[in-house]
This record gives sequence, C-alpha cells and structure tokens, in this order.
Amino acid sequence: MRDSVRQLTVDLGERTYPIIIGQRLLGNYDLTPFVHGKQVMIVTNETVAPLYLESVQACFPGKQVDTVVLPDGERFKDWQTLNQIFDHLLEMRHSRKTTLVALGGGVVGDMTGFAAACYQRGVPFIQIPTTLLSQVDSSVGGKTGINHPLGKNMIGAFHQPEVVLIDTDSLQTLPPREVSAGLAEVIKYGLIRDTEFLGWLERKIESLVALETEALVEAIYQSCACKADVVALDEREGGLRAILNLGHTFGHAIETFAGYGNWLHGEAVGTGMMMAADLSLRQGMISEEDRARVIRIVERANLPGLAPSAMTPEDFRRLMAVDKKNVDGSLRLVLLGALGDAVVTDEVDTLKLDATLRAFCAFHEGENT
Ligand code: NAD
Ligand code: GLY
Repeated sequence: MRDSVRQLTVDLGERTYPIIIGQRLLGNYDLTPFVHGKQVMIVTNETVAPLYLESVQACFPGKQVDTVVLPDGERFKDWQTLNQIFDHLLEMRHSRKTTLVALGGGVVGDMTGFAAACYQRGVPFIQIPTTLLSQVDSSVGGKTGINHPLGKNMIGAFHQPEVVLIDTDSLQTLPPREVSAGLAEVIKYGLIRDTEFLGWLERKIESLVALETEALVEAIYQSCACKADVVALDEREGGLRAILNLGHTFGHAIETFAGYGNWLHGEAVGTGMMMAADLSLRQGMISEEDRARVIRIVERANLPGLAPSAMTPEDFRRLMAVDKKNVDGSLRLVLLGALGDAVVTDEVDTLKLDATLRAFCAFHEGENT
C-alpha cells in the first residue's frame, strides 16, 4: 500500500517549487522530473552518507550520479569545505546543466545551495533535508551560505531549490538533542504567526519529542506551510520575512560566542526566543502569562534556558552588533506584539535589553532583575 504524501507549494512565480512530505520516500521517489540535464552531484556528509546515500542515489534512475562526502559539523560550513564541492564538480566535469542535491541537515543544505548559486554562475539544486530543523526551516526559502569567523551565515546568496523532498522516516536516526533543536524552529512558527498551531504544539510537544510519526508529519506540514507563506510574500527579506528570525539575534550571538557547533543552532534559537519574550514583556508588549507560555513550551522541548555559563551581557551586545537585520548601526530585533504576532522593531529600550541580557547570563545571576 502506498503511504500518503502531502504536498505544499512555495509560490514564487517562475521560481515556484513543491515541498513533498511523506514516509518511505528515500529510495522510492523518482526525482528525475526535477533534473534537467544528465548529471547529478549529491552533496552529503560522513554521518548521513552511510544512512541514506544509497537510497537517494536510487531516486535518480538513468542519470550520472556522483557524490561528494563532506566532513560533518557547523565548523566546516566554511570556504575550504565549500571548495571541496567545486573541486568534485570540476574533477567530474559537471557542466552548467548539472543538478546539485543536498542530502543532510541545514549545514549541508546551506552549503550545497550556495555552491549551486555560484557554480558556473548558477545551477539548479534539490533539497533532501534529513534533520527536523532542516525539514521545517532551512531547506525552504532559498537562503544559502557559509559562516565567516566574524559572523554566522554572513557570506551567501538567495537561491531557491527545484523541489524539497522530506522523508519523515529519516528523523528516526536523529539524536534527541537534534530533535529538540528542530523543535525550536517548529515552536517559532506558532509564536510568530499562528496561535492555533501554538495551542496544538502545547498539546503535542511530548509526542514530537518522542518522534511519533503522525504528530511529526502534521508539525512539519504546518511549519513548512507557514514558511512557504512568508517566503512567498517576501522572498528577499525586504520586511515581513525577518519575523522568521524570532530569537535568532540572541541565538546567533550565543552560537558565535560558544564557537560554531558547540551550541546547536536550534538550541541557541530556543534560548533566544525566551529572551525575545522576556524583552517583549519588559517593553510592555506581552503579558507575564504570555512570557511564561513561551518559556514553558521551549523548556518542554528540552531546550536550554540560559546563555552559555561564561557569556556576559557585554558579549551579547558586541556580537549582536553584527546582526544582518541591523541597519545603519541601530539594533533591530524581532519581538512579540502578542503571541502569534511577531514584529520587527528598532525601538529597543537599552535598559530593558540590558535587564533581559542579565537575566539570561547565568554568570550574572546575582544581578537578575
Ligand atoms: P546539521 O546540518 O549540523 O545537522 C545536525 C547533525 O545531524 C549533523 O551531525 C548531521 O550530520 C546529523 N544528521 C543529519 N541528518 C541526520 C539523520 N537523519 N540521522 C542522524 N544524524 C543526522 O544541523 P541542522 O540543525 O540541520 O542545521 C543547522 C544549520 O542550518 C545552521 O548552519 C543554520 O545556520 C542553518 N539554517 C539555515 C536556515 C536557512 O534558511 N537557510 C534556517 C535555519 C538554519
Ligand atoms: N530562517 C530564516 C529565513 O529563512 O528567513
């Protein structure tokens, strides 16, 4: 019996593409309609390759399928590792008609997308995300790139995929910490735009932590639907799309401080969303009860509730100053006007921000306000 497959569309005119969500897709789903030439280069890493590479190769019958296996880790999301993709493409003589395939989490997805945006001035690519975070967020929307030692995701391009293929079965091999990191981004959608989904998450969060299929499929579908909607309205982040960065300005500061890979992106976003809710309360935008709901749902996803132990408010201020949302030196943050209604604002009260930073820096716990 064929499993049910759910499908969404990211509506972007000539760059429109489907998101296909289901079970048992790897090894069974024919992706050749999305490949325009004869050549395919699958980019994956040393952790994911032994698990899923063979199945994914079978999704391209009749094509020349080559692979490049990268080292695993956020710290390899850099120029040197990106160059390995170009080395393989050139050594295997891939033409400008080649299609790149990202098989893995957000690191592989962002790097492969960026390689596709650059190789021979741009070739198509396919996203096959295998972490929860990449299935609900990074594989959709066309943001691609690498890190710079001075800032995360600072070098990159917008480049939309041809298709996103999400096999929820691949999550069964994911370590629990990575599941929680992905749940941070799922919770984000409830907080920024959809209180009904937030209520559903409050009922189902334990089922999601336990990787129960039915709940997972629904959470991934709702998350992708929210992201597809926002991206269709504002592909290049002229305004609205910035709400997808709730918690990310605090989170990026944590990731950069801790050293790429020591805190997972989703873990940092989880703490960052708590900090955004805390500041929203201090700025009189949400109630104490709203703040408590945010803290509680993030905690129930088993995400950390404080910044790294050695991190100070001054570290936050220094690292947040290089955020991409900042304009002309003024700090711009995503806060909550209400639950389900994120707002982008540069009206940040410095004293209240300081109070939030102190509250989440364990090192300064004695100074909490
Ligand atoms: P990741 O890519 O590092 O994957 C996490 C770990 O899980 C890795 O060790 C990976 O090898 C392993 N893994 C992947 N799939 C697996 C599976 N099915 N079973 C077992 N192990 C598996 O991390 P991530 O959380 O997927 O992505 C984080 C990255 O995504 C960050 O670099 C972040 O900046 C980026 N990101 C990008 C966007 C965007 O819009 N482009 C959005 C959010 C995050
Ligand atoms: N993850 C934020 C964005 O895609 O815009």
